[in-house]
Amino acid sequence: MSTQPYIGFRQLFHQDTSTFTYLLWDLDTREGVIIDPVREQFEGDLCLVGELGVRMVYALDTHVHADHVTSLGMLREEMRLQTAVGEPSGVPCADIMLNDGYTLRFGRHTLTALATPGHTDACTSFKVENMVFTGDTLLIRGCGRTDFQQGDPEMLYRSITQKLYTLPDETLVYPGHDYNGKSVSTIGEEKQYNPRIPATQTESDFAELMNSLNLPRPKHIDEAVPANMGCGISVDHGHLTEEVFGVRDLQKILNAMSVDEVVIDCRTKDEYQAGHIPGAINLPMGKELNQLRELRDYQKIYLYCYSGRRSQTVFSTLTSKGLDNLVCLGSSGMAEWEKFGYSVEK
Ligand SMILES: [Fe+2]
Repeated sequence: MSTQPYIGFRQLFHQDTSTFTYLLWDLDTREGVIIDPVREQFEGDLCLVGELGVRMVYALDTHVHADHVTSLGMLREEMRLQTAVGEPSGVPCADIMLNDGYTLRFGRHTLTALATPGHTDACTSFKVENMVFTGDTLLIRGCGRTDFQQGDPEMLYRSITQKLYTLPDETLVYPGHDYNGKSVSTIGEEKQYNPRIPATQTESDFAELMNSLNLPRPKHIDEAVPANMGCGISVDHGHLTEEVFGVRDLQKILNAMSVDEVVIDCRTKDEYQAGHIPGAINLPMGKELNQLRELRDYQKIYLYCYSGRRSQTVFSTLTSKGLDNLVCLGSSGMAEWEKFGYSVEK
C-alpha cells in the first residue's frame, strides 16, 4: 500500500495476462487516474471506480501492449476522460502525447511522465509521489524483453540506470506485470537484487544477456498491437459496409421482428437502465464471449451502443468467433435514436 495517506491507491490484477492495472486518486477531490487498464476488466473497473466515488480524469498506458488489449478508448467514451500515451507510440486515438517530463494533475497530485524506452520505443514510466509505475521497463527482479516492437537493449539499459535508478532508493516500484506473485519492490532493492540489471551491471553485458534470451513470440501480439493502436476500440470500418445500417432501418423493422431475432444493447447496465431501444436486451461490451452459444442460435442479432464504437467492437469480436448473424449500428446508436425522437424504454 502507498505510504501517502492522502492518496487513494489500488493495484488490480488481470490473471490471464498477469497484468497490473493501477488506480490512483485524490482522497479529497476524488479526481483519479488509471494506468494500464485491461479491456476484459472494463466492467469491473467501472464498478470499482463508481463504488469508490472516483471521478477519472486520465487513463494512461505505459506502452502499446503486445499481450492484452487496453480499455483506454472505452473508458474515454464512458467517463469523458482524457487518454495519454508516450509520444513516440504514434497512437492516433490518444488525446495527449506524453514527452519526458510532461505532467498531469489529479487533485493535489502530479503525475510525471518519464520517457523510459527500450522494451518499446515509446515506453513511459509514471512517477507519482513516492511511487513509480514502470510498465515493462523495470519488472520486479527482471525487465521487459527487447526483441520486438522497436526493442533495444542498450536503450533499455540507459532508461533503467540513468532514469529509474537515479530515483531515491526508497521509491516504490510498481511494474506492469508480475508472473511470480510479487506486487511491489523499491528502486534500492532492484539496484541490489535485480539479476538482469543490478546497479553494477555493464551496458555490454546487459545487451548480450538480452540478445540471448530466445523468448517465444507473444501469443496475442498480432491482435493486441493493432487493437491498442486504436485505444482498444475497433476502428476498422472496412469490412462492415454490408452490415452497417442506421437507426431508421432498425426503427422500421422493430415491430416486425420474429422471435429468433434480437436487439442487443452493448452499453453498460446503468446506461441501459437509464433508457434503451424498446425490447432490446443488455449485453455490455466485454461480456459477449460468455454468451457465445446463445448468440449463435439467433437468426439475426442487431447490435447498438451509444455512438457505434462499442457495437463495432462487439461485432468484430463475435465475427472473429464465426458468428455471421450480426447486424451492427456501426456509426450511430442511442445518441441518434434519441435525436430522432423514437420511443425509449426504461
Ligand atoms: Fe509490453
